[in-house]
Amino acid sequence: MANQEQRLSTKHLLGIKELTIHDIELILETAKNFKDVINRPIKKVPSLRDITIANIFFENSTRTKLSFELAEKRLSADTINFAASSSSVSKGETLIDTVNNILAMKVDMVVMRHPYAGAGVFLSKHIKAQIINAGDGAHEHPTQALLDAFSIREKFGEVAGKKIAIIGDVLHSRVALSNILCLKKLGAEVLVCGPTTLIPKYIGALGVKVEHDLLKALNWCDVANMLRIQLERQETKFFPSLREYSMNYGLNKQILDSIDKEIIVMHPGPINRGVEITSDVADSKQSIILNQVENGVAVRMAVLYLLANQSS
Ligand code: CP
Repeated sequence: MANQEQRLSTKHLLGIKELTIHDIELILETAKNFKDVINRPIKKVPSLRDITIANIFFENSTRTKLSFELAEKRLSADTINFAASSSSVSKGETLIDTVNNILAMKVDMVVMRHPYAGAGVFLSKHIKAQIINAGDGAHEHPTQALLDAFSIREKFGEVAGKKIAIIGDVLHSRVALSNILCLKKLGAEVLVCGPTTLIPKYIGALGVKVEHDLLKALNWCDVANMLRIQLERQETKFFPSLREYSMNYGLNKQILDSIDKEIIVMHPGPINRGVEITSDVADSKQSIILNQVENGVAVRMAVLYLLANQSS
């Protein structure tokens, strides 16, 4: 059995809000060990051999879904995958009924992505299995924030004191909220940048700076985390056109080269090349976008491993 120092304070991973600084540090330290594991010739460990995990995705995903599946396989867990689009959800089945049917097959953990904010919290109150939030609406995406923090720490040695600019559609972004909460807990300075219509009015209460000028934000930061415009969550127009958005807030090589220091560029994906970021930036040596994806597997292994320990 793991001692208290190696245990998370929570049974579920619903959001960064519920994690203590110790929890975050423990996940990042554990992920470092798992990153070594996945870079060995034999990438598999038997840690979750007796655990069954259901990945249930009510919303599209490439990175998060594949990354969780791979993390589970590397830990030797048994996995089942569920995509709402090809399930009985379309016949009117409720979330609780769907999940209870999956749990009747003796599942220990549920990794869930859902379009509604709070879906994971709701589920955790109604079922016994451990829940991991893989993104709930515009609310939280905790494992993305953890892998982003891991990637920043890997690059700079530490997160504390670093200046991170989160640029783009902050209003509709679960990545933005989870990143802000995680980075602030780890002692970073955070600034959000975008048009007034895409920056929530409450954001200052989270202890972040607000900047509407892209060049000023870039000159301030050590890391620029570029966000996609979440058109699927926008029922109204928040800016005149994608072209105009891109002219004011898109990151291109010319702007990047015009600032007087070398910053790191991140993006959670999926990228809309030519909108929030151009190809010459996304594929440049300043970009750590694919490192983020690689680190995602190690971080998710750490989360699964520590949550399994938590319930033992
Ligand atoms: N970053 C992220 O959540 O990507 P997916 O939507 O592809 O999972």
